[in-house]
Amino acid sequence: MSQEQKIILSGVKPTGRPHIGNYFGAMKQFVDLQTEYRSFIMIADLHALTSVTEAEILRRETLDVAIDYLAIGLDPERVTIFRQSDVPAHTELAWIFNCLTTMPYLARAHAFKDAEAKNREVNVGVFTYPILMAADILLYDPDLVPVGQDQKQHVEIARDTAEKFNRLFGEVFKLPEALILDQVKTLIGLDGQKMSKSYRNTIPLFADERELKQLIMSIKTDSKSETEAKNPEECNVFALHKLFSGAIIPEVKRRYVEGAIGYRESKEILFEQMNHYLEPLRAKRVEIASRPDEVRAILAQGAGDARAVAEAKLAKIREAVGL
Ligand code: AMP
Ligand code: TRP
Repeated sequence: MSQEQKIILSGVKPTGRPHIGNYFGAMKQFVDLQTEYRSFIMIADLHALTSVTEAEILRRETLDVAIDYLAIGLDPERVTIFRQSDVPAHTELAWIFNCLTTMPYLARAHAFKDAEAKNREVNVGVFTYPILMAADILLYDPDLVPVGQDQKQHVEIARDTAEKFNRLFGEVFKLPEALILDQVKTLIGLDGQKMSKSYRNTIPLFADERELKQLIMSIKTDSKSETEAKNPEECNVFALHKLFSGAIIPEVKRRYVEGAIGYRESKEILFEQMNHYLEPLRAKRVEIASRPDEVRAILAQGAGDARAVAEAKLAKIREAVGL
């Protein structure tokens, strides 16, 4: 077993344009790990159904995520890129896990508590969301699940579920671990809160030049003047310099500390750096988006490959539980 290539599985929901928090928190790891790990990268369209109720939007955004994956550099020759709903084993295993999991246990999950606190009528899909995610993960025996901090609890639930299953029915599942990079585990948005599609404070990864500039200029700062000394570690603009500004970071830092830079200039420099970094990704995305049939073919191939792995695992699971 130890000789075999290690495995990762992860995914993102097709619910709007990906932002730089998604990229640095998770998606970039998919690319960085693809040569070393056998990789399964999904588009979590079943999870998106907990919030999306328009078929056309879901279809479009699902294809968009596939294009995003290819644009950031996932290599379909190496990575199994697939749509969750193309592999029915996910929902079947989720049902089996539903029957092992108690209501009070799931009621303690952060995402569910947040949804309830917002006083919306929470659908059952939101409640069992972590169970479907446990099924997504455990069908592929991954060693690591690269995600941002907000998914940590979900991966822990997958582990707990695997442990409980193994205890009751014998050793069927490998226990996965979340891979969360400390530096980028929670990127901050334009307003200083966590960057999130639902807070409308994001910088989309594929924003065009004009939008990018406008968003960067709107990042919230304190009101210190150009000549006042500033603590770079408390600045939302500097937090992004750390990701994008490479060789000039020490220089920008020095100018913050010495009171030799204003926020406006800092943002202008940041725009130049970010634009330079993101430009090639943007160009690649345009090119891939012009060939949607190729993207669909990649998803069809991925679906077949994922199904083969998931169905072999499901056969063992069905045997273990007596189905
Ligand atoms: P989602 O779009 O909700 O499917 O999220 C996709 C991935 O991006 C997940 O692994 C999240 O944990 C990660 N992510 C989302 N927002 C952030 C953020 N602000 N900072 C770091 N990672 C994030
Ligand atoms: N819940 C994840 C998110 O919102 C998306 C997701 C679904 C996922 N299934 C997964 C991530 C399995 C990792 C592994 O970002």
